[in-house]
Amino acid sequence: MQLIVLGTSAGGGCPQWNCGCDNCNFARKNGQSARTTDCLAIQYRDEGADGWAIVNPGVDLRHQLARHAQLQPPKAGPIRQTPIQTVILTDGELDHTMGLINLREGSALKIFATDLVHELMETSFPVRTVLKNYASHEFVRIVPDEPFFLGDSVKVTAHALSDKLPKYAKNSHPFAARCSSAVVGLKFESAHSSIAYAPQIGVWDDKVSALLSGAEIILADGTFFTSDEMSSLGVKAGSAESMGHLPLSGAGGILARLQETKARIKLLTHINNTNPILRDNSPERQAVEMAGVKIAVDGMCLSTSKVGENLRD
Ligand code: MLT
Ligand code: MN
Ligand code: ZN
Repeated sequence: MQLIVLGTSAGGGCPQWNCGCDNCNFARKNGQSARTTDCLAIQYRDEGADGWAIVNPGVDLRHQLARHAQLQPPKAGPIRQTPIQTVILTDGELDHTMGLINLREGSALKIFATDLVHELMETSFPVRTVLKNYASHEFVRIVPDEPFFLGDSVKVTAHALSDKLPKYAKNSHPFAARCSSAVVGLKFESAHSSIAYAPQIGVWDDKVSALLSGAEIILADGTFFTSDEMSSLGVKAGSAESMGHLPLSGAGGILARLQETKARIKLLTHINNTNPILRDNSPERQAVEMAGVKIAVDGMCLSTSKVGENLRD
């Protein structure tokens, strides 16, 4: 199995347009440190041909696709075509769905999301309603724990992780009853290996452990180092936990939990621009390294060690 980590930042990117923090200023001067929003591309085989699924398309999608030839129209054939056939959403957050607008140009994609996320996209953030007038996308339902397939080589299982609604829908009562799949994590499995992806971990409970268990590669929520990271910099914001992100530090924090979790590669993604782990040689970066965890970077390609062919044989 192969994937491209298209972007690794939380919603604002790095640099964020209105942020003058040290990390954003550094990224302004050093372009190689800039980060686009958290997004993955997963490759799969479908009857002998390669296909790609985009997971969590955000505002930077157009630039992300421009950086990777594999995701662009093939050289031969009709002028308008794409190897991208599928989109998968882990939640309805703006940074994971706004890129759908980039995919309006006349294509027919399968867009997988839970019922609740589809409902958000027809109501509070009506991107799905808008898209219907531009493209003939097929909106497909994800049911947590019921696997679906990408072509014939990758099995995807969504694990319901939390009921946290995006900020834009927080006060929309009709959703409350069905909130349990507001946020899912994804397990991608090929014949011999698996990758787990959870960019929004609000609490580390058995559901998170089950999702990550047995994965060869883990991509986990690296948004904040401390609970009060934003407010300590003078930004009007609640705690990391109130935003649905368990911090990395602390006894029950994501780093300590990842240290206890077995995997060949453990990576952090969806990293907020304020996070001190982004600074080389910071004590917080050292803590990440001491825990045997690495920081994902935009454009990195990951492959599982065993190549599985046809899953359904
Ligand atoms: C989050 O991950 O907490 C949200 O995506 C924040 C945002 O809306 O950018
Ligand atoms: Mn986000
Ligand atoms: Zn900043």
